[in-house]
Amino acid sequence: MSGKPPPVLISESDIEKRVTELAIQISGDYQDKGDLVLVGVLKGAFVFLADLSRRMTIPRTIEFIAVSSYQSGSLSSGAVRLVMDVRGSIEGRHVLIVEDIVDTGHTLKYLIGMLQSHRPASIRTCTLLHKADSAEVDIDIDYIGFSIGDEWVVGYGLDYAEHDRTLPYIGTVTPTD
Ligand code: IMP
Ligand code: MG
Repeated sequence: MSGKPPPVLISESDIEKRVTELAIQISGDYQDKGDLVLVGVLKGAFVFLADLSRRMTIPRTIEFIAVSSYQSGSLSSGAVRLVMDVRGSIEGRHVLIVEDIVDTGHTLKYLIGMLQSHRPASIRTCTLLHKADSAEVDIDIDYIGFSIGDEWVVGYGLDYAEHDRTLPYIGTVTPTD
């Protein structure tokens, strides 16, 4: 990690604009459905979830789930591992999984299956970023903030080996592993 800040891929103001649009869209889609459980995927989605949830206008509650799919840096460890499950009951409730980024899709596919076993009324998925060209599994993503290319991004919750998670914008780094 050099001292140079990562080059900007998506600016703070572009993120803010898009997150507001998503919040309005989701609020409209769920307005007649009762309360919505937003399930944020730790750690990466914590910033996106905070901004998205505060701009929504429907009744909503927050849960977190934690998985581990990468050992460190950008190399995949293969299997997805559940590190922390939701605490509250989601049975019979509408669930929206909130992810920072969908790359191969393995993590989201695993999460959908895992949360399905809690018997929610419905499950939809929302991701800030989507690496469309990297998909390895077929999954429906209901809400996508931005589609990006196959590059490693950091900031706004996303990290590279725990670095740059708190950058206010999305930047790019060149992984060394
Ligand atoms: P997938 O299972 O390959 O879709 O990977 C999803 C997870 O990998 C995300 O939730 C992130 O934690 C991580 N990830 C994938 N690409 C990036 C990236 O460019 N920057 C930071 N994290 C990433
Ligand atoms: Mg993630």
